[in-house]
Amino acid sequence: MQTLSGKKIVLGLSGGIAAYKCADLTRRLVERGAEVHVIMTEAAKEFITPLTMQAVSGRPVSDSLLDPAAEASMGHIELAKWADLVLVAPASADMIARTAAGMGNDLLSTCILATSSPVALSPAMNQQMYANIATQENLQTLENRGFFIWGPASGEQACGDIGLGRMLEPIQIVEHCEHFFSHKPMQGKSVVITAGPTREAIDPVRYISNHSSGKMGFSLAQAAINLGANVTLISGPVSLPTPLGVTRIDVTSAEQMCEQAIHFAKKNDIFIGCAAVADYRPTTIAQQKIKKTDKSNEMTITMVKNPDIIASIASLKTSRPFTVGFAAETQDVERYAKAKLIKKNLDMICANDVSIQGQGFNSEDNAINVYWKDGQQALPLNSKRKVAEQIITLIATKLDD
Ligand code: PMT
Repeated sequence: MQTLSGKKIVLGLSGGIAAYKCADLTRRLVERGAEVHVIMTEAAKEFITPLTMQAVSGRPVSDSLLDPAAEASMGHIELAKWADLVLVAPASADMIARTAAGMGNDLLSTCILATSSPVALSPAMNQQMYANIATQENLQTLENRGFFIWGPASGEQACGDIGLGRMLEPIQIVEHCEHFFSHKPMQGKSVVITAGPTREAIDPVRYISNHSSGKMGFSLAQAAINLGANVTLISGPVSLPTPLGVTRIDVTSAEQMCEQAIHFAKKNDIFIGCAAVADYRPTTIAQQKIKKTDKSNEMTITMVKNPDIIASIASLKTSRPFTVGFAAETQDVERYAKAKLIKKNLDMICANDVSIQGQGFNSEDNAINVYWKDGQQALPLNSKRKVAEQIITLIATKLDD
């Protein structure tokens, strides 16, 4: 069956003994209907010839950034735009490091830099090189940016070592491609997600905020884009990279977040309020830095309620999106979450107990109980990435109900 019919894949080969397997990989991709355009680094050509790759792909191989003839036919920008997927296999430690550093010193790295399509890397290297902290950090950086990392496998290596670092077999990479292009439950849907904290200014140098890191909201954005959605992420001040393909709007205060959230919610199918929005803000912002006085040991800040963003969106009379809230609770989690579901007129609420260490605010993991009008589902402790994927998948099933 032509499972990859019409899919355009730029297959980038970097230097490694596993490059010899890429003739077979290309043949299998083409057999399934994919159009494969091969890019080779100089090092890759030491392991397999461009002629072989041209023969199996049925297209000329690109290997030079500075060749006017090659650039005239399909230059790096055109290739970057042409691809539905850029697949780097084998991805050597050097290629991974250059990609993580954002370098553009050959055709393949510039194509990766210039593409807005998803990029998948199939690492292949000696097990010690793979285990090296530099390689691990580079891979983590790339994964955080939304790159797919397929493999490596464990086993005997060309150098005689045994361990993690072998490139996946061609058939396994093909399966990843098939899964990547298979039907995505959020295809055609648009989602707005709020993430991170808000900051409520007291004076020019001070503010009130909370411990939200943005990790949960950014993981939701990543999961939604992976599952085919068009994603707008409205983020408070956080230091996280924007997942590939996501449109990001940065805001600071709850009022700014509210304005942007309502604007985008009206134009989208789904709204997810994951941001930890400050419930109150100082009534006035001092124009100058507030000075310490000797008159009193106390100081009072008068606060006023912020708009309830998600409640405003859920009460829209027209263009109301499917509205999903979060509830961050330290006690009576289920009762408070269910009360918020009803009071704010939400379609779904994701409750997290933020009193438990290792989950909730500023942690890598989370455990969620999702509630809706006539049902609930527990999502046990897992990485925020995995929990986010489960939440988005659940939302997709509810949209179909
Ligand atoms: O960012 P991380 O470090 O990864 O942490 C993740 C998280 C703990 C922040 C996240 O999982 C979470 O629970 N987010 C919601 C936090 C929160 O503000 O909960 P709440 O129970 O106070 O608010 C309930 C809902 O109303 C939320 O959807 C919130 O976005 C929304 N809200 C709250 C106040 C307000 N003025 N406007 C709102 O829209």
